Amino acid sequence: MLLHLSTWAEIEARLAADRSIVIPIGSNEQHGPTGLLGTDWLCPEIIAHEAQKTHDILVGPTFNIGMAQHHLGFPGSISLRPSTFIAAIGDWARSLAVQGFQRIYFLNGHGGNIASIEAAFSEIYAEASFAGRARGYALRLRNWWELPGVQALCARLYPQGHGSHATPSEIAVTQWAYPGEVRTASYAPQIAPSGPVREAADFRARYPDGRMGSDPAQASPAAGGEIVALAARVLADDLAAGW
Ligand code: NI
Repeated sequence: MLLHLSTWAEIEARLAADRSIVIPIGSNEQHGPTGLLGTDWLCPEIIAHEAQKTHDILVGPTFNIGMAQHHLGFPGSISLRPSTFIAAIGDWARSLAVQGFQRIYFLNGHGGNIASIEAAFSEIYAEASFAGRARGYALRLRNWWELPGVQALCARLYPQGHGSHATPSEIAVTQWAYPGEVRTASYAPQIAPSGPVREAADFRARYPDGRMGSDPAQASPAAGGEIVALAARVLADDLAAGW
């Protein structure tokens, strides 16, 4: 069930039976010469939307702008600063919580978001702690590549050149979902360098084509389909457990 294609009355009825929701969250940022700018929000959205076709889960609108300040040297990248992002995540969660959602599960697609999402959760829990009351609802962060079994599958598909940005696995997921948007390029070097992440000018100097440690030429729509099928299958179980 997709929240944005539902009515308020349908959501009210659903809340009487189930109080959990999945929010895909990512970032709109460069993904090397061939990766789509939306890759990091498309991947969790693709997985969550696929999962709700066969499982009784509610998926909210995708939070598609994240903490990507280090990518701002590449056109098309859009970022919130950490403080803005933390405040926005908090208000998304509070909006849902006042209506009765008790389990808010963020399916994340961008490593650069992790620190801010965790900080947003801590801000919300601190409100309850300083007020001396129970928190009333629970928040969870799950990176899509850490859904049970997914990392092992990606390691098997890409034993070399997976890297950490513009990875063949994330690009494969978008290729499967958007087969008309597949790009190719010659990469030099074939596997991009790895290193630290700092400000945008430093990032572009270290990683001139935008990749980090990856060889996206290995991506294929078929492999993306395999990753999506597994991730979508385990998402509902992961949502139900571990609160
Ligand atoms: Ni990415």
